[in-house]
Amino acid sequence: MLRDLSPSNTSVPRLVVGITGGSGIPYALDLLETLSQLNLHPHLIVSSGARRVHTTEGRGNAEDLERHAYQVYDEMDIGASIASGSFRTLGMVIVPCSSSTLAKVAHGLGDDLISRAAHVTLKERRPLILVPREAPYPRPMLENMLKAHDAGASILPASPGFYHAPDDAKDLLGFLSARVLDQFGIESGKMRRWEGDS
Ligand SMILES: Cc1cc2nc3c(=O)[nH]c(=O)nc-3n(C[C@H](O)[C@H](O)[C@H](O)COP(=O)(O)O)c2cc1C
Repeated sequence: MLRDLSPSNTSVPRLVVGITGGSGIPYALDLLETLSQLNLHPHLIVSSGARRVHTTEGRGNAEDLERHAYQVYDEMDIGASIASGSFRTLGMVIVPCSSSTLAKVAHGLGDDLISRAAHVTLKERRPLILVPREAPYPRPMLENMLKAHDAGASILPASPGFYHAPDDAKDLLGFLSARVLDQFGIESGKMRRWEGDS
């Protein structure tokens, strides 16, 4: 059954997810699977860079990502609903967030749908979570992270903690998904929370 996603229907939480060409597409896949399990199907944009990295990382194809989405948009469709602030959303996460897309967001560029939707998210003062992945971070990236932070974004690097005693890589992915969803007040159930060490 098609859900009512008209702007007047505020009962359906709409989350925008952008996936760009940083290494770490498994982080994006885990987030999408988690959202799916919560019956939250995001509005999804996958950049061509992300598609290429996904192929290189050998984890499957774009269909693995797209099947979790409520709607998938072309990365150049700058006339899509999510390009406008009048289309109400909970906010947006870009995971992973490449250095290139980070630079666009930090400098207010919107020449593709991911950077445009991010710009709109900032202008509407909704949560924008950026998950950069690079090692080491060069100075332009550090400066762009600060710029994006000061514009209202949260910088949540792809650096999962180990204090929750992960058993395997899946637990590390789950940690990151949990911390991303915490920013939206969504409980993922995927992370053992710290209750103190006593
Ligand atoms: C295999 C592979 C791994 C990459 N890893 C990263 C990375 O970890 N971080 C990053 O910022 N860019 C990385 N890149 C480069 C980006 O994909 C590239 O800058 C691309 O133009 C980003 O465009 P997008 O932001 O539109 O996806 C990688 C590229 C390839 C092919």
